[in-house]
Amino acid sequence: MSIAFEKTIFEDPTLNVIHLLNSISNENPEAISLASGRPDDEQCDHALIDKGLASYARYIADTEHSLATLLCQYGKTAGIINEIIAKYLQVDEGIKIFTPESIVVCMGFQEAATLTLLAIFEGGGVLLVPDPVFSGITGIAKLLRIKIVPVPMDTFLDPSALRKVAKELESRGEKIKALYAISDFSNPTADSLSYEDRKAMLSLANEIDFLILEDNAYSYFRYEGDKIPSMKSIDSSRVFLLGSFAKSIFPGLRMGYLVAPEGAGVMSFSSRLCKAKSLITVNTPALCQAVVGGLLIENNYSLKNLNQPRVLSYTKKRNCMIECLEREFPFKDNSRRTVTWNHPTGGFFINVQLPFTFEYSEMCECARNFKVIVFPTSLFSLTNEAVTQVRLSFSNATESEIQQAIGRLRAYIEFRMQ
Ligand SMILES: Cc1ncc(COP(=O)(O)O)c(C=O)c1O
Repeated sequence: MSIAFEKTIFEDPTLNVIHLLNSISNENPEAISLASGRPDDEQCDHALIDKGLASYARYIADTEHSLATLLCQYGKTAGIINEIIAKYLQVDEGIKIFTPESIVVCMGFQEAATLTLLAIFEGGGVLLVPDPVFSGITGIAKLLRIKIVPVPMDTFLDPSALRKVAKELESRGEKIKALYAISDFSNPTADSLSYEDRKAMLSLANEIDFLILEDNAYSYFRYEGDKIPSMKSIDSSRVFLLGSFAKSIFPGLRMGYLVAPEGAGVMSFSSRLCKAKSLITVNTPALCQAVVGGLLIENNYSLKNLNQPRVLSYTKKRNCMIECLEREFPFKDNSRRTVTWNHPTGGFFINVQLPFTFEYSEMCECARNFKVIVFPTSLFSLTNEAVTQVRLSFSNATESEIQQAIGRLRAYIEFRMQ
């Protein structure tokens, strides 16, 4: 007997993006990759593992707990470093946590998003997302059969236009249960929400009665301007903060957390979240929690200093990429460029506008024949948005690789324009 899989969700291209990002370099070993938003290999310091563990061991020695039991046994579903994370959120984000139970320590953003969607979307409802958007959220939402409504990024960033979309959906009888937003330096387009946008989003959530899933994966990586408070720190009552240590410590730990909404009269999600987690990962590996907990204690509950060298290095790489783009695609006689790009004030990406369509097959052609891998922004879109855009990641390329890669991209574009 065989089981027939006819039309399956697993064929949906959104579910393939993370795999594709990780596999395209293996398939083109001679190409320089500006595809994946991996943190800089140079910044992956494995000495942090021993440092974190030692610091956590010292911390536990002053308590009644046994380090051996904590590290080697099954652990508490919600986590063992929740109070440490609560202090860290207060120090670095100005977020006051009233009940550590509102925190669940997760295996990266990806599990935080999975648990949150499971806790919210029982019985249907709509998830609003900007478009294009990180496929980690849309992929898992699709897998959970959640109805997603993509909102073009320009509309998403315009509070009155976003309100109109939300109102129209409601008037059609669609119940918006949640909205996903990357407040700082989004993936793939590096857009951020201004302070006013954040306030307006919170007030829309109150007016229409939905929750906000706030992703802060890139918030440490600001290269210009002042930090803007997270929505969670402005009003916790409607916001799930979905946090990741993938960029601010390193991704191999697979460490993240979620903070559920808090406040007087706010529904508690902790029992739902923990039940779901107990059936998905049981608990987040204690060893990884100990490393993160120890590093937070060691750094006085702040990751700012740890990330300072990274911020400097990424700023240089971003500047280098912009200089290369300016050199390779100069203004023409009509004071226009063939290719244009945004000027991100943070994050890992520059979004480039090409004069032609650039999708999956063009990415493969460019990688194979011009030895540079750049990722079509359209692969992050659920609509026809962004078919002429590419996402360039500068985080894990050296300055010399960036220079060569942008030169190769120019050669590809010239070839296409012939
Ligand atoms: C927007 C966004 N959120 C979160 C993450 C981190 O996810 P995780 O913690 O699962 O590695 C990434 C990583 O690429 C990302 O781009």
